[in-house]
Amino acid sequence: MGWRFLVGLVAVAITALCPGVSDGEPAPPLRYVGSKACAGCHAAQYDAFMKHSKKAHSCVSLRRMAGKLTPEELTGCFGCHTTGYGKPGGFTSFAATPEMAEAGCEVCHGPGSAHVASQDPADIKGKLTVADCRDCHNDTRVRAFGYKPLLRAGAH
Ligand code: HEC
Ligand code: HEC
Ligand code: HEC
Ligand code: HEC
Repeated sequence: MGWRFLVGLVAVAITALCPGVSDGEPAPPLRYVGSKACAGCHAAQYDAFMKHSKKAHSCVSLRRMAGKLTPEELTGCFGCHTTGYGKPGGFTSFAATPEMAEAGCEVCHGPGSAHVASQDPADIKGKLTVADCRDCHNDTRVRAFGYKPLLRAGAH
């Protein structure tokens, strides 16, 4: 067994143990972390959101209606009324992920795992447009939904 082989083996082991060390390695997928994780550093936004935004209570009506809906129907509500449904770290069920049960900060700002770790504004979506709202406030739902004047509504 030559030294070149050993060096190669060590290199392979390091690459395998430390994803991200080698160039071109994809970054780990961003995860949803829930609104509480933002509260410590963004108390003003958090408090205003919890107090004034209906999103902060968006699963109350779902819980109330759950008994009258089939499981399939209820599942169909989660994409809009919870945070990160079907995505890494996101809502899975009321029992397993109660902290993701409302439509929280990350429905607008996107998954926050990298930003929470780095505190770098570049790691979170800070500039929003109305396109960021349309997955949920889609044409069938929109009554009157304009750009800037309403962009701040329902936030903080
Ligand atoms: C450990 C502290 C910390 C945590 C936790 C944190 N942030 Fe931040 N965030 C910062 C700092 C520092 C800045 C840059 C200064 C500022 O704008 O207040 C920032 C900036 C931002 C910005 C503005 C970005 C821009 O482009 O200007 C947004 C939006 C934001 N954070 C959202 C969030 C959300 C959503 C969460 C929870 C998922 C969160 N933050 C959690 C520290 C934090
Ligand atoms: C993940 C889905 C989702 C996204 C994305 C989303 N919303 Fe919402 N929004 C909701 C849900 C669900 C409600 C209703 C909550 C309830 O009343 O139970 C709502 C309610 C609102 C309301 C009603 C009033 C209030 O105080 O909450 C406004 C205004 C609003 N959203 C604005 C926005 C804007 C502006 C954006 C984009 C920047 C946005 N929303 C993005 C799901 C979403
Ligand atoms: C495509 C996204 C989307 C889906 C799917 C969705 N909702 Fe909503 N829902 C919204 C938005 C956005 C609002 C805010 C009002 C509006 O714009 O229509 C809302 C509002 C509501 C409200 C009114 C809350 C209030 O305070 O007046 C109830 C109740 C509700 N939804 C229940 C449900 C239930 C139950 C389901 C599943 C059967 C569901 N929604 C599926 C996006 C959605
Ligand atoms: C309905 C969408 C929406 C939700 C939900 C939301 N935000 Fe925002 N946020 C915005 C918009 C819009 C801006 C302004 C962006 C711009 O100026 O282009 C903003 C800006 C910010 C900023 C930058 C500083 C400021 O106030 O302008 C921070 C920090 C922030 N949000 C944190 C949060 C936190 C923390 C939560 C949850 C408690 C949250 N946001 C929930 C839409 C939202």
